[in-house]
Amino acid sequence: MRITIAGAGYVGLITGVCLSHRGRDITLIDPDASKIALLREGHAPIFENGLPKLLEECGEKMSFTTDPQKAYARADVIVFAVPTPDRRDGSANLAYLFEACAQVASFCEKGCFVVVKSTVPVGTCDKVERYFDSNTRPGLFRVVSNPEFLAQGTAIEDTLRPARIVIGAGDDNAAQSVREIYDGFDSTFVITDRRTAEMIKYASNDFLALKISYINEIANLCEIVGADSETVSLGMGLDPRIGLRYLRPGTGYGGSCFPKDTKALHWLARYHDYELKTIKATIEVNETQKIRLFKKAKKYYKDLQGVIVAVLGLAFKPGTDDLREAPSVDVIQLLAEEGAVVRTWDPAAAARFAQQYPDLVLACPTVEETLGGADLCLIMTEWDEIISYDPNDFARLMHTPIVIDGRNCYTPGAFTGSGVLYDSVGRQVVNSEVMTRIEACS
Ligand code: UDX
Repeated sequence: MRITIAGAGYVGLITGVCLSHRGRDITLIDPDASKIALLREGHAPIFENGLPKLLEECGEKMSFTTDPQKAYARADVIVFAVPTPDRRDGSANLAYLFEACAQVASFCEKGCFVVVKSTVPVGTCDKVERYFDSNTRPGLFRVVSNPEFLAQGTAIEDTLRPARIVIGAGDDNAAQSVREIYDGFDSTFVITDRRTAEMIKYASNDFLALKISYINEIANLCEIVGADSETVSLGMGLDPRIGLRYLRPGTGYGGSCFPKDTKALHWLARYHDYELKTIKATIEVNETQKIRLFKKAKKYYKDLQGVIVAVLGLAFKPGTDDLREAPSVDVIQLLAEEGAVVRTWDPAAAARFAQQYPDLVLACPTVEETLGGADLCLIMTEWDEIISYDPNDFARLMHTPIVIDGRNCYTPGAFTGSGVLYDSVGRQVVNSEVMTRIEACS
């Protein structure tokens, strides 16, 4: 079975190398010539755990091209893994998807199965099949939905050992043919119709986003009423009906999926005259949570002009250099607008941040240099290097030892007697008297 994957972005590339690793014949096509050149030389154009090794192992078994004729002419299955970015109104932009359809219709004369892996609004696979039926011989292309559920940082593991594989098809034959792609995968298959498969993807991501917004609100309330959010998460999550995962309170969710997919489902519901109130609230809570660390900074410094702020972590989560919808971006922009002097450290996303936001911050090579002489420290990403950092070093290095931890990297007890004011998510502030001392001196 010859499989062509359209789109060498995150989903396409990871899916390609994992299927090739399992012995499938894979061709990856992307219009970006520089990306294809890098891949041909065996280099990964994205940052992902284990990807360079798997790419090296694929070697000659996987081919890369920018040429649609080469990619599509002989394919038995074509997988669409093209981006579906959100428009201003929250709806998904399907332009790349239909560009790929046009190329397939022109170059794949024999017809084949078209598998849509990109996250698309419910009903899109039906539209794609109608496109092929009107622009080629009806029935030549059969469209199947097969959403991805891979998370950055664990994408290879998520693809090689998926919790479930969802296949949405118009008939059993199409479903079984696409299921063959995954022969030998130890997973549970959910075989259904196309609209249900498309909905499973949105409903899953939006539910995880809702769980995060929920625990963030509970954590905010914990701060007010004197409860401990970490223990609340544990106490809730041990109930198997709730589960421990996606119950970590923090600075709000970011990344390329949750923000986009919550907005897209909300838009889709509205389009059908239905208000998804839970998802509307999820989005609103997240918008506020993303700038909560800035609001906390204002609690300590009414005037941020000239205040030296050390920001530890920029990526939307550890294990990636991705800054899309990262809360650090909003917080740093607000700090800069107020005249704060912002220094940053991130082991993966620093270069990307400097490229996207030149002149906004001073990127430091080490945590020590970032903290040296700072008046305030904000922790935005829970990198291992930060979690293992000695809490006593904050007092040693900072001019004013105030640490606002947006990821609960430390236990509050670690700061007892350290002289550091430690303000985390959903827990009580430690050493709040530091502030009174600072105010008295100023
Ligand atoms: C997500 C989904 O997990 C994946 O199935 C989908 O296909 C793509 O979107 P990803 O965006 O890579 O994956 O990251 P994920 O690990 O799910 O985290 C998303 C955001 O939620 C991050 O900003 C993370 O910090 C935040 N998060 C996650 C929390 O704030 N608390 C949690 O308990 C879990």
